[in-house]
Order: sequence, then structure tokens, then C-alpha cells
Amino acid sequence: MNTIRELAVVTGASSGIGFELAKLCVIEGYDIITVANEPEIHTAAEKLAAEGTRITAVEADLAEKSGVDKLMAAIDADSRPVELLFANAGSGLGEGFLDRDFKEIEHVLHTNITGTLDVLHRIGMQMRARGRGRILITGSIAGFVPGSFQAVYNASKAFLNNFSFALRNELKDSGVTVTCLMPGPTDTEFFERADIADTPLGEMKKDDPAFVARIGFDAMMEGEGDVVSGWKNKLQSVIANVTPSEMLAEQHRKMAEPDQHKPA
Ligand SMILES: NC(=O)c1ccc[n+]([C@@H]2O[C@H](COP(=O)([O-])OP(=O)(O)OC[C@H]3O[C@@H](n4cnc5c(N)ncnc54)[C@H](OP(=O)(O)O)[C@@H]3O)[C@@H](O)[C@H]2O)c1
Repeated sequence: MNTIRELAVVTGASSGIGFELAKLCVIEGYDIITVANEPEIHTAAEKLAAEGTRITAVEADLAEKSGVDKLMAAIDADSRPVELLFANAGSGLGEGFLDRDFKEIEHVLHTNITGTLDVLHRIGMQMRARGRGRILITGSIAGFVPGSFQAVYNASKAFLNNFSFALRNELKDSGVTVTCLMPGPTDTEFFERADIADTPLGEMKKDDPAFVARIGFDAMMEGEGDVVSGWKNKLQSVIANVTPSEMLAEQHRKMAEPDQHKPA
């Protein structure tokens, strides 16, 4: 029997949670289109290679409209509809808001919000027209906390956590499901890239990205609304919901303020 394999798209699949999500797609029998901004996306695709699986790696900056265009061109060239979409690409930004160049801030916003929404809009329309598809958005428990010294990142994740449920509601009865994965600190390149590796937040014990990806993947397949990975993070998100924002922001300062190792 010659069955056509279904197609999954994973953004931010060169490392960390996205790489593990892509691995799960391969294990579960999907062909995949992976995308990330650096050439590592090609070496990641080589590592994902498995007999019978078609992997197309796209190097594109999803913070730019042209990057999203490039991803869509790869999807069009495949000619199969997207069955699973993992809107996972994202980046952090440590240090004080006023201490970063605004260009860096814009790049985080354009990656985490504008580019993510552009991908969701374009692929979401195709899914709705077809009456089927599953979407997983990688939000974060960071979205529950005003993130002093990572303010833009946490706010961007608050946006995604919130947006995800609204889109899910708009698409109910459409055949398309939307799930938000909200990880806690996870052992990936994220902290190094955000310049927060040497803060208490960067140095704390973290979850295994493979564990986090499995939780997100399964929640998406079950059509759940959201999932926080791990019991500790679940507890933290419950506490965050009943703690005053002022207090949360002060706690986050203690975790993310730079130069805490400097002698007084
Ligand atoms: N690690 C954590 O503690 C944690 C916790 C909660 C949520 N998250 C979220 O999980 C997602 C994955 O992060 P991770 O922890 O796995 O970190 P990671 O290892 O740094 O992975 C981030 C991925 O996103 C890609 N990416 C970043 N900016 C991009 C852009 N402008 N265009 C295209 N691709 C881009 C990166 O590729 P390039 O290097 O090629 O740009 C990489 O593949 C992010 O949305 C992050 O916010 C992480």
C-alpha cells in the first residue's frame, strides 16, 4: 500500500525544544520542514535523518517577512498540506530594557510575536480552509511573571500564552486545534543566547528538552488547550497567578539581574 506521509512544520528546530519536537515528528512517522535562522538547521536535519523520512531544512530569519515567505515557498513546493505546525522559534534577551540596543529588542519581538503570528496566520488559513490541522505554540511560564532584566521576553511570552487561547476559541468547530506549551526553565542554548547564562536563572537546574517536547507533542495530539511541563512549573504557575505583580517582578530581578557574582 502506498500511503502519503503527512507533513509537519517545526520552527526553531535547529536546537533545544524544537529539535526534540522535530525528532518526535520523525518517530511518529511525519515528513518535516524545519526552519531556523542559522546554517545549523542543515546539520540538525542531518541528525534527524531516518529511512523513509523526508526532511527539508530551511534557513530563514522568521523575524523578517522575507524569512516567512521563504518558509511558505518551501511548504508550497512540497505541495502537501501542513498537518502539524509547531510555532516554536523564539529567543530571549537579558539585561535591563534600557541597556539593550533597540534593534535587539525589535528582533526578539519580531521573532517571538510578529514572525510567529505571520506563520500562524498563513498556515492557519490553509488549515481552516481544509478543516483540519493541529497547532502547538511554544509559550512559557515566563509569561505569568513580569520579567525584570528579561522584560521584553517575558512580555512576549505573555502575549503568546494569551493569544493561543483566543485563537483556539476562534477555531473551535473548525477542525483545527491550538495548544500552548508552557515550559519552565529547560536545558537548551536559550540562556547563553539571551546573555543570562551567568545569572541564577541561567544557573538553576533545568528540564530535559526531550521531556518538555514529549509533553507538548502529546498535549497537541490530545487537542488540549495548554500544558505546563513538569509539576514544579505547574506549582510555580499557580503561585504566580495569586502573587502580586510587584512581588513577582522583584523575585525575577533576583533571578535575572546581571553581575550578581561581582564582589561588592
Ligand atoms: N529554554 C527554556 O527555558 C524555555 C522555557 C520556556 C519557553 N521556551 C521557548 O522555547 C522555544 C525554543 O527555545 P529553546 O529553549 O529550545 O532555545 P534554543 O535552543 O535557543 O532554540 C531556539 C530555536 O529558535 C530558532 N530561532 C531563534 N530566532 C529565530 C529567528 N529569528 N528565525 C528563525 N529561527 C529562530 C533558533 O535557531 P537559530 O539559532 O538558527 O536562530 C533555534 O532553533 C522558544 O520559543 C523559547 O522562548 C524556552
